[in-house]
Amino acid sequence: MKISLQITDIHALRKAVIYEITKNFCQAEKFAHLCSFQLSAKHSRKTENGKVCLRLTYPRHAKGLCPPLENISSTHGSQATSSFIHKVVASQSSRNRAVTDFYLNANTFKSCVLNTIVSRQGAHGVDSDIHSWSLEEKGNGIVKRQISNIAVDYSSPNIAKPFHAGHLRSTLIGHFLSTLYSALGDKVTRINYLGDWGTQFGLITSGYRMFGDSNLLRENAVQHLYDLYVRMNRLKETDPSIALEVERAGSDLNEGKEDVYKLWKTIRKASIESNSKIYQRLGVWFDAHEWESDHHITAKKLCDQLLSDGKLEYIDGAYCILLEDKRGKLQKVVLLKGNGSTLYISRDVAAFLSRYKKYKFDKMLYVVDNGQHSHISNISRIVDHHSLMTDSGSSASSLIQHVKFGRVSGMSTRKGTSVLLADILEEAKQRMIEKMCSTNTTQATGEELGRIAESLSSSAVIVSDLRLSRLKDYSFDWEKVLSLGADSGPFLQITHSRLSSLEKNCGVELNLSPSLELLVEAEAIRLIIHLAKYDEAVMKSATQQEACVLVRYLFDLCHLSNSAFKKLTVKGGRQDVAEARLLMFHCARLTLSHGLSLLSIPPLSSI
Ligand code: ARG
Repeated sequence: MKISLQITDIHALRKAVIYEITKNFCQAEKFAHLCSFQLSAKHSRKTENGKVCLRLTYPRHAKGLCPPLENISSTHGSQATSSFIHKVVASQSSRNRAVTDFYLNANTFKSCVLNTIVSRQGAHGVDSDIHSWSLEEKGNGIVKRQISNIAVDYSSPNIAKPFHAGHLRSTLIGHFLSTLYSALGDKVTRINYLGDWGTQFGLITSGYRMFGDSNLLRENAVQHLYDLYVRMNRLKETDPSIALEVERAGSDLNEGKEDVYKLWKTIRKASIESNSKIYQRLGVWFDAHEWESDHHITAKKLCDQLLSDGKLEYIDGAYCILLEDKRGKLQKVVLLKGNGSTLYISRDVAAFLSRYKKYKFDKMLYVVDNGQHSHISNISRIVDHHSLMTDSGSSASSLIQHVKFGRVSGMSTRKGTSVLLADILEEAKQRMIEKMCSTNTTQATGEELGRIAESLSSSAVIVSDLRLSRLKDYSFDWEKVLSLGADSGPFLQITHSRLSSLEKNCGVELNLSPSLELLVEAEAIRLIIHLAKYDEAVMKSATQQEACVLVRYLFDLCHLSNSAFKKLTVKGGRQDVAEARLLMFHCARLTLSHGLSLLSIPPLSSI
């Protein structure tokens, strides 16, 4: 039996190999689940032209499900005569795995890849028409990706406490995942759940009543509130009258007493304004701001209901719920204090229920550090234990996912131990300016220098975090973060700006159909193959919820572009060769620029 394929672009190629062939000739879904594929270059100096190989690997026992892959012939676009797959070699790579290599016509492959990238302007990793069949890794298999409605709770600082390193990680990871999912076609709701309720607010409002300064609050709310917080905490230990004052302010707030309530609102407003400057610098934004206090009343109602239904136990002066842990042991979770005030966990349960009503999500992600693991799992355990999701067939445990991450240590500024994020970003900018001024390649001066330094330093902070795998603890190292060397945010930006200036200054017009057979060098083939793998990196990043997969892909893209850049000159060479190379560099830049946008880093075109 002969199989004929019409291949239009690089995605159609994979689609063809994985789905169309299998759909027509075997039990497609089953086979597709079992196989994986890999694009690679087989470059031979003798034959000059590099070969491109798409290797399909599947378990030998699945051979029965597999179509006669050797009988494939293919055409590309309207050129009915040009064959895309020019050889198919089936072999067995191990006792258990079988392998089929599709040797692709390199010229057709190059034009497929570059045309796809140009026509999609670098978004070839995420387009929605690709998405409907895009392949996603799951274990060793490949499955179709479903479009989902996802809510993401991230950043979520406490307004009376400093925005610390944990919040920075949550902000960066949560924002990355949200951007990536929405680029893949999911409906995403980005939620910032601001901690504005709880005992620390007695501390902060009483502190402000005693030592507050409206000017300082206006200038730098977060710093001022933090200073008050630290001061009151210290005083409270030694002075019982202060402890009393703190308690009084706390209960005044709970009861909604006007003066303290007004003060608390001012503090909230000032602190959200100063956080928004940080978010702006990191390219971060939200669809919804939720206040923890919004859920205080509903949490109270919920607890009262549970209490009147006899579902809470009164133990050691507080109202609790008893949940069985994995080993069947009963574990106590306090939902309501003896004085009737709600807790972090009860407000989170109420928040989850109200969000579900509002957004009807398929998934609710909490991007919160490892340390809150039992807190997040208690949300779903409490909801499910008492079947609180009355209007839905789902269970909270099937909807809630804790996107955990490791701890960051050693994040302090030059001045001392304060870990305010605003200071970190400002210090990063200052250090970047110093660094740039001491480098003789820097052309920018004055305001321009400041703007570029700000952008480079934000990219440095973003990438230094996202390049690491999520669960890893790490210690923050200024020198590493701000290095302009390889594998950093500035490295991505510098490569992007180098590619942009090549396009501007090479003196060659961009020709979208150059003679691609002139791109024969190993550096060119390797770069083009890497460009063709962008969607793989994007999908893997999404499935594993690991930004580092995409970041590493972009580092490799920059390394490959830089080595092609050194070897394959554009300016001053033969016109036809220059045009072919220019198109390749243009596609590398489009892909890099798109990848940077997924990291929320606006690409720089000159430094
Ligand atoms: N405000 C909390 C903290 O700083 C994080 C909140 C995370 N989100 C949530 N829904 N619990 O620790």
